[in-house]
Amino acid sequence: MADFDAIESIKKRTSVRTYSKRPVEERKLESIKAFVEENAGNPFGAAVRLNILHTRENPRIGAYGLIRGAKVYLAGCVEKSEKDVEGFGYEFERAILYATSLGLGTCWIGGLFTRGAFSTALKPDGGFIPAVSPVGYAAEKTSLPERIFAAGVGARARKPFAELFFDGEFGNPIKADEKTAVCLEMVRIGPSASNKQPWRAVRNEKGIHFYLKEDKKYAGNTMFGFCMQRLDMGIAACHFELSAKRTGLSGGIVFEDPGLPLDGLNYSFTWRYGQR
Ligand SMILES: Cc1cc2nc3c(=O)[nH]c(=O)nc-3n(C[C@H](O)[C@H](O)[C@H](O)COP(=O)(O)O)c2cc1C
Repeated sequence: MADFDAIESIKKRTSVRTYSKRPVEERKLESIKAFVEENAGNPFGAAVRLNILHTRENPRIGAYGLIRGAKVYLAGCVEKSEKDVEGFGYEFERAILYATSLGLGTCWIGGLFTRGAFSTALKPDGGFIPAVSPVGYAAEKTSLPERIFAAGVGARARKPFAELFFDGEFGNPIKADEKTAVCLEMVRIGPSASNKQPWRAVRNEKGIHFYLKEDKKYAGNTMFGFCMQRLDMGIAACHFELSAKRTGLSGGIVFEDPGLPLDGLNYSFTWRYGQR
Protein backbone atom coordinates (compact mmCIF):
# COMPACT_ATOMS: atom_id res chain seq x y z
CA MET A 1 0.00 0.00 0.00
CA ALA A 2 1.29 3.45 -0.86
CA ASP A 3 2.81 4.55 2.38
CA PHE A 4 0.71 7.15 4.07
CA ASP A 5 0.22 7.76 7.75
CA ALA A 6 -3.38 6.65 8.27
CA ILE A 7 -3.44 7.80 11.89
CA GLU A 8 -2.41 11.31 10.82
CA SER A 9 -5.15 11.32 8.18
CA ILE A 10 -7.80 10.05 10.60
CA LYS A 11 -6.91 12.85 13.01
CA LYS A 12 -6.80 15.50 10.30
CA ARG A 13 -9.95 14.59 8.34
CA THR A 14 -13.09 16.64 8.79
CA SER A 15 -16.01 17.02 6.41
CA VAL A 16 -15.42 19.84 3.94
CA ARG A 17 -18.58 21.17 2.32
CA THR A 18 -17.38 24.46 0.83
CA TYR A 19 -14.63 24.17 -1.79
CA SER A 20 -12.26 26.79 -3.14
CA LYS A 21 -11.82 27.53 -6.84
CA ARG A 22 -8.29 26.13 -6.75
CA PRO A 23 -8.28 23.13 -9.09
CA VAL A 24 -6.97 19.81 -7.84
CA GLU A 25 -3.70 18.92 -9.57
CA GLU A 26 -4.11 16.12 -12.10
CA ARG A 27 -1.18 14.25 -10.53
CA LYS A 28 -3.03 14.08 -7.21
CA LEU A 29 -6.14 12.68 -8.88
CA GLU A 30 -4.00 10.15 -10.75
CA SER A 31 -2.37 9.23 -7.47
CA ILE A 32 -5.78 8.57 -5.86
CA LYS A 33 -6.79 6.41 -8.83
CA ALA A 34 -3.56 4.43 -8.61
CA PHE A 35 -3.97 4.02 -4.85
CA VAL A 36 -7.51 2.74 -5.26
CA GLU A 37 -6.45 0.25 -7.92
CA GLU A 38 -3.38 -1.02 -6.08
CA ASN A 39 -5.34 -1.55 -2.88
CA ALA A 40 -8.57 -2.94 -4.29
CA GLY A 41 -10.16 -5.34 -1.82
CA ASN A 42 -11.59 -5.28 1.68
CA PRO A 43 -12.05 -7.71 4.56
CA PHE A 44 -15.79 -7.94 3.85
CA GLY A 45 -15.25 -9.62 0.48
CA ALA A 46 -17.33 -6.99 -1.31
CA ALA A 47 -16.72 -6.17 -4.97
CA VAL A 48 -16.17 -2.41 -4.86
CA ARG A 49 -15.25 -0.21 -7.78
CA LEU A 50 -14.15 3.39 -7.16
CA ASN A 51 -13.46 6.17 -9.61
CA ILE A 52 -12.78 9.88 -9.92
CA LEU A 53 -15.40 11.86 -11.84
CA HIS A 54 -15.26 15.44 -13.09
CA THR A 55 -18.27 17.72 -13.38
CA ARG A 56 -16.79 19.07 -16.63
CA GLU A 57 -17.38 15.63 -18.22
CA ASN A 58 -20.45 14.74 -16.16
CA PRO A 59 -22.21 18.07 -15.69
CA ARG A 60 -25.17 16.56 -13.83
CA ILE A 61 -23.26 14.88 -11.04
CA GLY A 62 -23.50 16.68 -7.74
CA ALA A 63 -24.84 16.74 -4.23
CA TYR A 64 -27.96 18.54 -3.11
CA GLY A 65 -27.83 20.72 -0.09
CA LEU A 66 -24.73 22.01 1.52
CA ILE A 67 -21.94 21.18 -0.89
CA ARG A 68 -20.59 24.30 -2.61
CA GLY A 69 -18.02 24.59 -5.38
CA ALA A 70 -17.22 20.87 -5.87
CA LYS A 71 -15.84 20.04 -9.32
CA VAL A 72 -14.42 16.58 -8.74
CA TYR A 73 -16.00 13.59 -7.00
CA LEU A 74 -14.77 10.31 -5.64
CA ALA A 75 -17.59 7.90 -6.34
CA GLY A 76 -18.10 4.20 -6.62
CA CYS A 77 -20.39 1.25 -6.64
CA VAL A 78 -20.58 -2.19 -5.09
CA GLU A 79 -22.06 -5.46 -6.26
CA LYS A 80 -24.79 -6.88 -4.05
CA SER A 81 -23.50 -9.34 -1.45
CA GLU A 82 -23.97 -10.08 2.24
CA LYS A 83 -21.53 -7.44 3.49
CA ASP A 84 -21.59 -5.13 0.47
CA VAL A 85 -22.31 -1.92 2.37
CA GLU A 86 -19.58 -2.52 4.98
CA GLY A 87 -17.08 -3.40 2.24
CA PHE A 88 -17.89 -0.21 0.38
CA GLY A 89 -17.59 1.80 3.60
CA TYR A 90 -14.15 0.31 4.22
CA GLU A 91 -12.71 0.94 0.76
CA PHE A 92 -14.29 4.34 0.30
CA GLU A 93 -12.98 5.56 3.65
CA ARG A 94 -9.49 4.28 2.86
CA ALA A 95 -9.55 6.36 -0.34
CA ILE A 96 -10.83 9.37 1.65
CA LEU A 97 -7.96 9.01 4.11
CA TYR A 98 -5.47 8.78 1.27
CA ALA A 99 -6.94 11.95 -0.30
CA THR A 100 -6.64 13.60 3.12
CA SER A 101 -2.94 12.71 3.18
CA LEU A 102 -2.59 14.66 -0.08
CA GLY A 103 -4.03 17.76 1.58
CA LEU A 104 -7.46 17.41 -0.03
CA GLY A 105 -10.86 17.95 1.53
CA THR A 106 -13.71 15.44 1.27
CA CYS A 107 -17.20 14.85 2.63
CA TRP A 108 -19.10 11.56 2.71
CA ILE A 109 -22.46 12.07 1.00
CA GLY A 110 -24.73 9.11 1.60
CA GLY A 111 -27.96 11.00 1.31
CA LEU A 112 -28.87 13.46 -1.34
CA PHE A 113 -26.79 13.27 -4.48
CA THR A 114 -27.80 12.97 -8.12
CA ARG A 115 -27.98 9.17 -8.11
CA GLY A 116 -29.14 8.94 -11.73
CA ALA A 117 -26.25 11.02 -13.05
CA PHE A 118 -23.68 9.09 -11.01
CA SER A 119 -25.23 5.84 -12.26
CA THR A 120 -24.89 6.98 -15.86
CA ALA A 121 -21.22 7.73 -15.26
CA LEU A 122 -20.36 4.65 -13.19
CA LYS A 123 -22.68 2.04 -14.72
CA PRO A 124 -23.08 -0.03 -11.55
CA ASP A 125 -24.58 -2.86 -13.59
CA GLY A 126 -26.81 -4.53 -11.03
CA GLY A 127 -24.85 -3.07 -8.12
CA PHE A 128 -25.53 0.24 -6.41
CA ILE A 129 -23.87 3.49 -5.35
CA PRO A 130 -23.96 3.87 -1.56
CA ALA A 131 -22.13 7.20 -1.33
CA VAL A 132 -20.03 9.80 -3.11
CA SER A 133 -17.65 12.53 -1.94
CA PRO A 134 -16.39 15.78 -3.40
CA VAL A 135 -12.60 16.01 -3.58
CA GLY A 136 -11.00 19.43 -3.54
CA TYR A 137 -9.38 22.18 -1.56
CA ALA A 138 -11.34 23.59 1.32
CA ALA A 139 -12.43 27.20 0.89
CA GLU A 140 -11.01 29.57 3.43
CA LYS A 141 -14.48 30.46 4.63
CA THR A 142 -17.22 27.88 5.06
CA SER A 143 -20.74 28.82 3.97
CA LEU A 144 -23.29 29.88 6.58
CA PRO A 145 -25.60 26.88 5.91
CA GLU A 146 -22.60 24.58 6.42
CA ARG A 147 -21.77 26.21 9.74
CA ILE A 148 -25.38 25.85 10.87
CA PHE A 149 -25.49 22.18 9.80
CA ALA A 150 -22.18 21.33 11.45
CA ALA A 151 -23.34 22.94 14.68
CA GLY A 152 -26.69 21.09 14.41
CA VAL A 153 -25.18 17.60 14.21
CA GLY A 154 -22.42 18.57 16.64
CA ALA A 155 -19.91 17.64 13.95
CA ARG A 156 -16.90 17.81 16.21
CA ALA A 157 -18.49 16.10 19.19
CA ARG A 158 -17.89 12.42 19.86
CA LYS A 159 -19.22 10.08 22.54
CA PRO A 160 -16.73 9.30 25.31
CA PHE A 161 -14.61 6.16 25.03
CA ALA A 162 -16.32 4.58 28.04
CA GLU A 163 -19.73 4.72 26.34
CA LEU A 164 -18.54 2.79 23.30
CA PHE A 165 -15.98 0.13 24.19
CA PHE A 166 -16.34 -2.55 26.85
CA ASP A 167 -14.71 -5.56 28.46
CA GLY A 168 -16.86 -8.69 28.63
CA GLU A 169 -20.18 -6.91 28.94
CA PHE A 170 -21.80 -3.54 28.62
CA GLY A 171 -21.26 -1.10 31.42
CA ASN A 172 -17.74 -2.33 32.00
CA PRO A 173 -15.48 0.14 30.15
CA ILE A 174 -12.55 -1.49 28.42
CA LYS A 175 -9.12 -1.36 30.00
CA ALA A 176 -7.11 -1.59 26.85
CA ASP A 177 -3.37 -1.85 26.29
CA GLU A 178 -1.82 1.15 24.57
CA LYS A 179 -1.94 -0.16 20.99
CA THR A 180 -5.53 -1.36 21.26
CA ALA A 181 -6.51 1.95 22.86
CA VAL A 182 -5.03 3.91 19.95
CA CYS A 183 -6.91 1.78 17.40
CA LEU A 184 -10.21 2.17 19.27
CA GLU A 185 -9.63 5.90 19.60
CA MET A 186 -9.23 6.07 15.81
CA VAL A 187 -12.64 4.37 15.48
CA ARG A 188 -14.13 6.82 17.98
CA ILE A 189 -13.04 9.96 16.13
CA GLY A 190 -14.20 8.68 12.73
CA PRO A 191 -17.05 10.07 10.66
CA SER A 192 -20.52 8.55 10.74
CA ALA A 193 -23.84 9.27 9.06
CA SER A 194 -25.39 12.27 10.83
CA ASN A 195 -22.61 11.83 13.39
CA LYS A 196 -24.63 9.14 15.18
CA GLN A 197 -21.54 7.09 16.10
CA PRO A 198 -23.35 3.74 16.05
CA TRP A 199 -20.28 1.57 16.69
CA ARG A 200 -19.97 -0.40 19.91
CA ALA A 201 -17.34 -2.99 20.78
CA VAL A 202 -17.04 -5.68 23.43
CA ARG A 203 -13.80 -7.52 24.09
CA ASN A 204 -13.60 -11.09 25.33
CA GLU A 205 -10.84 -13.70 25.24
CA LYS A 206 -11.41 -14.26 21.50
CA GLY A 207 -11.00 -10.67 20.36
CA ILE A 208 -12.82 -7.37 20.03
CA HIS A 209 -16.32 -7.77 18.65
CA PHE A 210 -17.85 -4.79 16.87
CA TYR A 211 -21.58 -4.13 16.77
CA LEU A 212 -23.93 -1.74 15.05
CA LYS A 213 -26.36 0.06 17.31
CA GLU A 214 -28.82 0.79 14.55
CA ASP A 215 -31.08 3.80 14.87
CA LYS A 216 -34.40 2.35 13.71
CA LYS A 217 -35.96 5.78 13.35
CA TYR A 218 -33.17 7.14 11.15
CA ALA A 219 -34.53 7.84 7.65
CA GLY A 220 -31.09 7.25 6.11
CA ASN A 221 -31.47 3.55 6.95
CA THR A 222 -34.65 3.09 4.91
CA MET A 223 -34.80 5.81 2.25
CA PHE A 224 -32.15 4.54 -0.13
CA GLY A 225 -32.68 0.79 -0.18
CA PHE A 226 -29.85 -0.06 2.22
CA CYS A 227 -28.94 0.62 5.84
CA MET A 228 -26.70 3.69 5.73
CA GLN A 229 -25.28 3.03 9.19
CA ARG A 230 -23.65 -0.16 7.90
CA LEU A 231 -21.29 2.19 6.05
CA ASP A 232 -20.21 3.46 9.46
CA MET A 233 -19.21 -0.09 10.42
CA GLY A 234 -17.03 -0.36 7.31
CA ILE A 235 -15.41 2.94 8.26
CA ALA A 236 -14.79 1.61 11.78
CA ALA A 237 -13.16 -1.54 10.38
CA CYS A 238 -10.98 0.58 8.10
CA HIS A 239 -9.85 2.88 10.91
CA PHE A 240 -9.13 -0.01 13.26
CA GLU A 241 -7.20 -2.07 10.73
CA LEU A 242 -5.12 0.77 9.28
CA SER A 243 -4.30 1.99 12.79
CA ALA A 244 -3.33 -1.54 13.83
CA LYS A 245 -0.87 -1.62 10.94
CA ARG A 246 0.66 1.69 12.04
CA THR A 247 0.90 0.77 15.72
CA GLY A 248 2.02 -2.81 15.10
CA LEU A 249 -1.00 -4.38 16.81
CA SER A 250 -1.12 -7.86 15.36
CA GLY A 251 -4.38 -9.46 14.39
CA GLY A 252 -6.97 -9.35 11.68
CA ILE A 253 -10.64 -8.96 10.89
CA VAL A 254 -12.71 -12.14 11.04
CA PHE A 255 -16.42 -12.92 11.21
CA GLU A 256 -17.08 -15.01 14.29
CA ASP A 257 -20.15 -13.85 16.11
CA PRO A 258 -19.52 -14.82 19.73
CA GLY A 259 -23.27 -14.86 20.38
CA LEU A 260 -23.13 -12.42 23.27
CA PRO A 261 -26.58 -11.57 24.61
CA LEU A 262 -26.72 -7.96 23.45
CA ASP A 263 -30.17 -6.54 22.91
CA GLY A 264 -30.61 -4.14 20.03
CA LEU A 265 -27.11 -4.59 18.64
CA ASN A 266 -26.21 -6.22 15.34
CA TYR A 267 -22.92 -8.12 15.18
CA SER A 268 -20.64 -6.76 12.46
CA PHE A 269 -17.03 -8.02 12.68
CA THR A 270 -14.30 -9.14 15.07
CA TRP A 271 -10.71 -8.08 15.49
CA ARG A 272 -8.93 -11.30 16.44
CA TYR A 273 -5.58 -10.73 18.09
CA GLY A 274 -2.51 -12.38 16.71
CA GLN A 275 -3.85 -13.26 13.29
CA ARG A 276 -2.87 -11.64 10.03
C1 LIG B 1 -22.07 7.21 5.74
C2 LIG B 1 -22.05 8.71 5.87
C3 LIG B 1 -22.98 9.47 5.19
C4 LIG B 1 -22.95 10.87 5.28
N1 LIG B 1 -23.84 11.60 4.53
C5 LIG B 1 -23.76 12.96 4.55
C6 LIG B 1 -24.61 13.73 3.70
O1 LIG B 1 -25.43 13.19 2.95
N2 LIG B 1 -24.47 15.08 3.72
C7 LIG B 1 -23.54 15.71 4.51
O2 LIG B 1 -23.44 16.93 4.46
N3 LIG B 1 -22.72 15.00 5.35
C8 LIG B 1 -22.80 13.65 5.36
N4 LIG B 1 -21.94 12.91 6.15
C9 LIG B 1 -20.94 13.58 7.00
C10 LIG B 1 -21.29 13.51 8.50
O3 LIG B 1 -22.34 14.40 8.79
C11 LIG B 1 -20.03 13.83 9.31
O4 LIG B 1 -19.06 12.85 9.06
C12 LIG B 1 -20.27 13.91 10.81
O5 LIG B 1 -21.16 14.95 11.11
C13 LIG B 1 -18.96 14.13 11.58
O6 LIG B 1 -18.31 15.31 11.17
P1 LIG B 1 -16.85 15.28 10.55
O7 LIG B 1 -16.89 14.41 9.31
O8 LIG B 1 -16.53 16.72 10.22
O9 LIG B 1 -15.93 14.69 11.58
C14 LIG B 1 -21.98 11.51 6.10
C15 LIG B 1 -21.04 10.72 6.79
C16 LIG B 1 -21.06 9.35 6.67
C17 LIG B 1 -20.03 8.54 7.37
